[in-house]
Amino acid sequence: MIIIKSPPEIEAMRRAGAIVGQFFEEVKSMIRPGIATFDLEAFAEAYVQRHGVKGAFKGYLGYPANLCTSINEEVVHGIPSRKRVLREGDIVSIDFGVVREGYYGDAARTYPVGAVPDGAAKLMGATEAALGKAIEATRPGNRIGDISFAVQQTAEAAGFSIVRDFVGHGIGRMLHEEPQVPNFGESGTGPLLAPGMVLAIEPMVNEGRYEVEILADGWTVVTRDRKRSAHFEHMAAVTEAGCKILSLP
Ligand code: MF3
Ligand code: CO
Repeated sequence: MIIIKSPPEIEAMRRAGAIVGQFFEEVKSMIRPGIATFDLEAFAEAYVQRHGVKGAFKGYLGYPANLCTSINEEVVHGIPSRKRVLREGDIVSIDFGVVREGYYGDAARTYPVGAVPDGAAKLMGATEAALGKAIEATRPGNRIGDISFAVQQTAEAAGFSIVRDFVGHGIGRMLHEEPQVPNFGESGTGPLLAPGMVLAIEPMVNEGRYEVEILADGWTVVTRDRKRSAHFEHMAAVTEAGCKILSLP
């Protein structure tokens, strides 16, 4: 069952999403060679306290941090660490979520660390473009499969591959609600989109093959071929007119 949100609920979700969007605005200037992913986590911890909200991920299924910080071949769910220092040419995906007034906000972005190789820049560009096309496909009358297809087309046309094992999701009073939002699939298939649905759309795009595996820490997802991966995520509410992005500052 897909939970439909009322206009006041969507406003509350926009307030949660805005805090997440503002976080990305602020964390951007910290991303440079020499900073450890733990420093980003420390900033996130201070940020949630300053805003009087709860980090959405810390404690979720035992996850130990507010952020996921995933470098290069790490796809998602990288755990911040004092030992992981960003280096020139890396790309780092940051995923952050909060709970405010009982509603979840969730978003992710991949950032370059200093100057990055052309292939890395192209991968990030294609992943963000795929999210953009997905958002364009998010409107009443379309189906989940139209979103999936838009992402897959955009990423594969750029020569990249789509992670299969992790998907986007509905979001609301729970971090993960129905429906699943795969980043691959056929247009015209899946649940029909209707006003009041809120989706977290999150393409994970690999430079090489799509297969992933989980490291021995039980969390960190990496590409099997150890080539780079990028991740962008926004929350979008389906409206009469199309959709509204809720995770902007
Ligand atoms: N954006 C991710 C998701 O929607 C974040 C979850 S990380 C976890 O699933 F650690 F909390 F699982
Ligand atoms: Co998510």
